[in-house]
Amino acid sequence: MLHDPNHLYIFDTTLRDGEQVPGCQLTTPEKVEIAKDLELLGVDIIEAGFPVSSPGDFQSVVELSKAVDDVIICALTRANKNDIDVAADALKYAKRPRIHTGIGSSDMHIQYKFNSTREEILERAVAAVKHAKSYVEDVEFYAEDAGRADLAYLARMVEAVIGAGATVVNIPDTNGYCLPDQYGAKIKYLKEHVKNIDQAIISAHCHNDLGLATANSVAAVQNGARQVECTINGIGERAGNTSLEEVAMIMQVHASQFPGLTSNINSKMFTHISRKVSAMMRMPVQPNKAIVGKNAFAHSSGIHQDGFLKHRENYEIIRPEDVGLVEADIILTARSGRHALKHHLERLGYQLDKGNLAVIYEKFLIMADAKKDINDEDLHTLLK
Ligand code: KIV
Ligand code: ZN
Repeated sequence: MLHDPNHLYIFDTTLRDGEQVPGCQLTTPEKVEIAKDLELLGVDIIEAGFPVSSPGDFQSVVELSKAVDDVIICALTRANKNDIDVAADALKYAKRPRIHTGIGSSDMHIQYKFNSTREEILERAVAAVKHAKSYVEDVEFYAEDAGRADLAYLARMVEAVIGAGATVVNIPDTNGYCLPDQYGAKIKYLKEHVKNIDQAIISAHCHNDLGLATANSVAAVQNGARQVECTINGIGERAGNTSLEEVAMIMQVHASQFPGLTSNINSKMFTHISRKVSAMMRMPVQPNKAIVGKNAFAHSSGIHQDGFLKHRENYEIIRPEDVGLVEADIILTARSGRHALKHHLERLGYQLDKGNLAVIYEKFLIMADAKKDINDEDLHTLLK
């Protein structure tokens, strides 16, 4: 597969790593609806499921393959023949199929998960990639628990699977263990020590157990990874995966740190898709979640509101409209000042002189102390 070294490939796993979270299961039509939105959002790859895991997952991969035209549809497998055969069958309608196969790479997994040896695991990894390659050109290999794997062994594994035909090598920090500089150094080491690394894309797949998934993914990109695996709202196993919207906005806000690097993401869809995924999966987004949380663009303290009203950029590094948010930005609470109250009254068509504003402000504070926040209806009542 020819890849563009200046493109950051966005691999969305909302419908696989995200959907495996208890309570987040979706029906196939729901997955198709989300997949179509993901295509519009501009992701490059959709991981559609783990076909061998259940008939429902198999069917979802079949239907997503039919429904999506331009995006690569990827199916997950373990490193065994049957998983790969089933995945290839599920992908038969995909215009651009990818098989994502892999096996543990840390000594912890090799010993306590597979009861095996490094050499045996290496052979299984190579055999799995060769078998997947007999079905599809585009084969991604994941070295599970790479975050805790021995670096020299990981490099041998990566070199061997690229030799066997892997087009993408995924270096998952499965347990969210690494610090950003450790994870970045791991990617750099692979770039510098794996002879055939230029024949594959390095992919970052980070979990958020220490709240570092996004930081680790960004460190990976800074050190040569060109694919990031992520989910909408950062949902995923345990504490979740890297959040797609965070990575995309970091790339936008700090574009100068990523010279020449592009992605196809249309950030204006973030609010819409975040809300849809949250509602369909019955998984609320924490209010202070970066980019898509309810409070991510809500200014509530008097000092911030005053500064914001004087000049938005005093307290905004992203314009809400750039993530598709159109609602009010200033929340009226008992901490709000006169400036914020005046802003909302004028929005509702009330022009007050200084004296009247002072009177209304006193009444507003009494109301705001009794109520958590004040809406437009309350303001009309106050003015009456
Ligand atoms: O976290 C992980 O290691 C995974 C692999 C299956 C890619 O999700
Ligand atoms: Zn994962």
